[in-house]
Amino acid sequence: MASVVAQRLPPLLCLAAVVAGGNEASAQTAGSGAALFEQYCIPCHGPDGRARTPVARKLGVKDLTESRLPDAEIIHQITEGRKDTHGKDRMPAFKDKLKPAEIEAVAAFVKALRK
Ligand code: HEC
Repeated sequence: MASVVAQRLPPLLCLAAVVAGGNEASAQTAGSGAALFEQYCIPCHGPDGRARTPVARKLGVKDLTESRLPDAEIIHQITEGRKDTHGKDRMPAFKDKLKPAEIEAVAAFVKALRK
């Protein structure tokens, strides 16, 4: 599935596709939350959200299955990202890449990863 997503939307074209209205109209379904997670979040959070990737260890990514963050803060984290104390990105902001409905879809998917 990863390769299908990658073929469909090379990262640099994503913004253009989103701005153009693209083919993400069904972003509210859980299925596309999964697809969005696969496309944008797996490199750091891992396919199961457990952050067992080399990048994750380096960055100190949190295990999403252990997260108890309330909905509004999940949305905020994805929208605004998170900077470290030196102002460097720990997690990038996704407000320029994802529409609000897509952020909600991927937030719902993140919650579904919890135990
Ligand atoms: C560049 C790596 C990176 C990417 C890409 C990334 N994250 Fe993160 N994420 C992090 C790091 C690092 C943290 C921990 C930040 C902190 O609180 O110090 C984090 C934390 C989170 C948290 C908060 C968990 C908690 O309990 O505090 C959520 C929710 C989250 N990420 C969701 C996502 C989603 C959804 C995506 C994709 C749209 C995503 N992340 C993409 C690195 C990343």
